[in-house]
Amino acid sequence: MGAIRGACAPKGQGRPSSRPSMIQSCRPSSPALAAVLLAVLLGGPALASEIVGGRPARPHAWPFMASLQRRGRHFCGATLIARNFVLSAAHCVNGLHSRSVRVVLGAHNLRRREQTRQTFRVQQVFENGFNPLRLKNDIAILQLSGTATINTNVQVARLPAQDQGVGEGVQCVAMGWGQLGTNRPPSPVLQQLNVTVVTALCRPTNVCTLVPGQHAGICFGDSGGPLICNGLVHGIDSFIRGGCGSGTFPDSFASVAKFADWINSIIRRYGDDDGPSLHPRDTAGRTY
Ligand SMILES: *[C@@H]1O[C@H](CO)[C@@H](O)[C@H](O)[C@H]1NC(C)=O
Repeated sequence: MGAIRGACAPKGQGRPSSRPSMIQSCRPSSPALAAVLLAVLLGGPALASEIVGGRPARPHAWPFMASLQRRGRHFCGATLIARNFVLSAAHCVNGLHSRSVRVVLGAHNLRRREQTRQTFRVQQVFENGFNPLRLKNDIAILQLSGTATINTNVQVARLPAQDQGVGEGVQCVAMGWGQLGTNRPPSPVLQQLNVTVVTALCRPTNVCTLVPGQHAGICFGDSGGPLICNGLVHGIDSFIRGGCGSGTFPDSFASVAKFADWINSIIRRYGDDDGPSLHPRDTAGRTY
């Protein structure tokens, strides 16, 4: 069982429900949440290849992708946004002792010992009005204890400009080490999945995605990871409804564009000593 303090098994799994499930730590006392949690349990049988319905990423194809771990176990995703900061979901770190969290960069297969990894402790956690009942503002910035070395396996992601959102129909990629299905084990190898931005059944404060015509999507353990659209981190995996890959309810992400100015202000203020280490920002809205 996952070693996350305060975490509980996802309740209501397999039961169709429109209630949101955060995809990491669960709050059993919260009436608004029928199911929550994404603590990933390593050690299950290695089944095929999905987030749900996805495929294994080419190793280090997404060099900004980070794994948040406690006692060597993955529990959430995160994204390197500056050499000493990762972005994740607030519900991933809410209530956790940040001292127990490790940020692992440069990973691909979590079951292997990989020379490409760089591991850091968390020095400080910044949140911005996270509401665990309404699942609003589900965003956190983790300041690392050190500065990542940038190389082919570890790189800083690009963020959108403030309010530079994504519209209906945009193609994006979701990724993570989360479970391969509501009742399936997590994936040791990073998975990726093509998804499409939708606005139906989505709050204006979230970015939402579906895989049209398929039971595919994010699942427990994917929380905190990035949604990449047009080469930019537009979303942070936040919650699901109706189980993983329901085919009906879109997956919900915190909208990074709504927090771009806040993110930049934190990085500017607490960046490493080599001067401001702002993430490379795509001012031209370039697509690649
Ligand atoms: C995902 O999208 C990319 C770019 O749009 C495309 O090249 C690729 O074939 C898609 N992969 C799958 C499995 O659909």
